[in-house]
Amino acid sequence: MRLSVDSLKKDPQRLREFLSSNRSTRELLAILKRLGKLEKDFDKDVLIDLLKHRNSKVRLWAIKNLGKLKDISLFPLFKEIVLKDNDTAVRREAVSAIGRLRNESTIKFLFSLLEDKDPEIVSQAIRGLLVFKGNRNVDAVLKRLIHHENEIIRDVIAVEYFQDKSSSANLEIDAGKFSNVAVNGDVIDVLRMLPDNIVDLTFTSPPYYNAKNYSKYKSYGAYLDFLVEVFKEVHRITKEGRFFVLNTSPVIIPRVGRKYKSRRYAIPFDIHSRLVEIGWEFIDDIIWIKPSGSAKNRIGGFLQHRKPLTYKPNPIVEYIMVYRKRTTKLIDWNIRQYDEETIERSKVLGEVDRTNVWYINPDSDPLHEAVFPEELCQKVIKYYSFVGDLILDPFAGRGTLGKVALDMQRKFFLVEKDERYFSYMKEFVAKERSIFEKGSFKFMTYEEFKEYVSEFRSECS
Ligand SMILES: C[S@@+](CC[C@H](N)C(=O)[O-])C[C@H]1O[C@@H](n2cnc3c(N)ncnc32)[C@H](O)[C@@H]1O
Repeated sequence: MRLSVDSLKKDPQRLREFLSSNRSTRELLAILKRLGKLEKDFDKDVLIDLLKHRNSKVRLWAIKNLGKLKDISLFPLFKEIVLKDNDTAVRREAVSAIGRLRNESTIKFLFSLLEDKDPEIVSQAIRGLLVFKGNRNVDAVLKRLIHHENEIIRDVIAVEYFQDKSSSANLEIDAGKFSNVAVNGDVIDVLRMLPDNIVDLTFTSPPYYNAKNYSKYKSYGAYLDFLVEVFKEVHRITKEGRFFVLNTSPVIIPRVGRKYKSRRYAIPFDIHSRLVEIGWEFIDDIIWIKPSGSAKNRIGGFLQHRKPLTYKPNPIVEYIMVYRKRTTKLIDWNIRQYDEETIERSKVLGEVDRTNVWYINPDSDPLHEAVFPEELCQKVIKYYSFVGDLILDPFAGRGTLGKVALDMQRKFFLVEKDERYFSYMKEFVAKERSIFEKGSFKFMTYEEFKEYVSEFRSECS
């Protein structure tokens, strides 16, 4: 028989009997979770008894309900639970109940909880103290937590006390000068010339260490340092809270002779912590899966002799790592920078990828050995940008991202060092474009770009 909680609440005697008799945990929880709003005269003793229950969920729900009474006489009891209960969730709920009292006499105790070893207790104590925001003592103590060792606590304090109000002005810079521009030059030289906060989205696939022919580095360390320099610049020129999507995969460098071993380098995993250090917040890891036939065959030897330790699966996966320029602002703040019409036109309609596994065939090109499939660019652009946005590929190759950006009513900024790829890019990006559109694209040598930027700077000053 289904119990009516409302009728039980109206009959304290029955409720008391119900909650205090030898009920199963399941039955107790069913009632406790459905108690809803409680009147001031609710018989609290029945809930207090349950604080000794051996099941932590029952204790948690008992305290949750006691918290609703907002009864200052319960403060000593809540304190005791915070100090003595051995379950984190129950302790946290007790701190939350203290916060709900909204009584200045709790401040001293909440201060003491800021030293707790459990960051969730500290966070809950902060929430309780924020009720008194504006009280000089409370503000001073909370502001000091901007140096707390826990990152989530630092974030909360940053939002509450150190939100940079001026940063929204950064979005006002006119990025128009850099729209539909491609430069034939070294990525670091070119990016260094761009103003701060102009890019809405970056999607790129950097050189695969020394695995391909187009670039060579003295060592793996030097390669990672180079990428860090590039992605620092990308960070500087990206608008607050906008996205950076990086496509890489582990690579293999073949052995130099029979006596030696080949080496495999885990690029996505090695670059990740460096990106976070620069100020990129990790958002998502998406796995791009290619058909099995497209992989380099590494399993052949193992299949012949089947000896353990020699197993080397064929790699059919690449990583699409998604980062956001770290900010205390929520995504909604970024969306609010656009007008209603742009938001409407940018909506991602129809079928969407519901998981972080994307099945996409690779593309091959007669002139470039490692190009993005257009479908991959389409997905990244539709999920992480709005119509009219400026989209950057600092390692642009034939400019696949630029072409798709135009197809999707976005604008591109591309950098490519290799002259052959760059002149191919002029054709590839502009194909199927009207003469009028083509006329607005600017493909520049590095020298031309330098001049262009200095003109722009003198116009601005
Ligand atoms: C993996 S490919 C990118 C291909 C591109 N996604 C496409 O769809 O065509 C990397 C590109 O980075 C270019 N590159 C390497 N080092 C560079 C540098 N220092 N500055 C600019 N481009 C560079 C290479 O020439 C190569 O075309």
